[in-house]
Amino acid sequence: MGSPFKADIVKGKVALITGGGSGIGLEISTQFGRHGASIAIMGRRMHVIDAAVSSLRSLGIPAAGFEGDVRKQDDAKRVVESTFQHFGRLDILVNAAAGNFLVPSEDLSPNGFRTVMDIDSVGTFTMCHEALKYLKKGAPGRSSTFGGGLILNISATLHYTASWYQIHVSAAKAAVDATTRNLALEWGTDYDIRVNGIAPGPIGDTPGLGKLVPEEISQTRESMPLYKVGEKWDIAMAALYLASDAGKFINGATMVVDGGLWLSHPRH
Ligand code: HXC
Repeated sequence: MGSPFKADIVKGKVALITGGGSGIGLEISTQFGRHGASIAIMGRRMHVIDAAVSSLRSLGIPAAGFEGDVRKQDDAKRVVESTFQHFGRLDILVNAAAGNFLVPSEDLSPNGFRTVMDIDSVGTFTMCHEALKYLKKGAPGRSSTFGGGLILNISATLHYTASWYQIHVSAAKAAVDATTRNLALEWGTDYDIRVNGIAPGPIGDTPGLGKLVPEEISQTRESMPLYKVGEKWDIAMAALYLASDAGKFINGATMVVDGGLWLSHPRH
């Protein structure tokens, strides 16, 4: 689908996207690039990153890929610095890296719980922590008249109620939302950085949907007007809105983009 936005709404900005090599992260990378941004992608699998960078460059988007695991502070620091060295500034950090699997709580080991907390919650904070010095108003590469940067945390809706077999992810995304609000308060006030989130519902053609939603349920949902499975495009358009000047007064919000699904349990 085309875009309803002008092609220059994030022109000149540099965005670093964790988990940007696939799924929702790659679509955000692509749409940010199509609307004028330069893109750095961070991920654990170099072949995935390489393929994503090639596809971005084939669209004429300036792009670079860096291998790294958000669970490792040294990787976070190195990738943020490499992004700055490559593009000369950093304006937007998108935390899209996530881990998930379905498991009943009684079968989940504490290490399994910790692993997802480490990726989603601690990883998000670690990236924010390392990116701060480049996102601040007046940071290297940012002109003094230019405000601070933007952080976008990809969350979920499952912790708004309760979700079967996803206690680890629910806990992790609740922590992500708390991190979004707390950083918005502190860094918005001190550094003019906006910190927001997006909470997608089930999104088609993503690793998450493949892992979490049985095929027959996602097909049934397709026949329902708003409860259907969303598209990666829907999430990328929300991200673009928040990243553009249109979102300049939005801070500390997590925008739900799920067609209203979490409000109800659609009949399967
Ligand atoms: C039970 C499991 C498990 C499973 C792993 N573990 N998979 N337990 N069921 N299916 C446990 C392991 O037994 C181990 O605990 C601990 O978790 C760590 O496992 P590792 O395999 O060593 O971890 P690692 O190789 O680091 O892999 C991390 C991962 C993996 C999260 C487990 O799935 C991954 O890398 N995923 C990234 C890609 C991904 O999931 N993308 C989808 C995101 S979708 P023990 O005790 O045995 O040592 C998404 C959507 C959220 O996030 C919102 C949905 C609505």
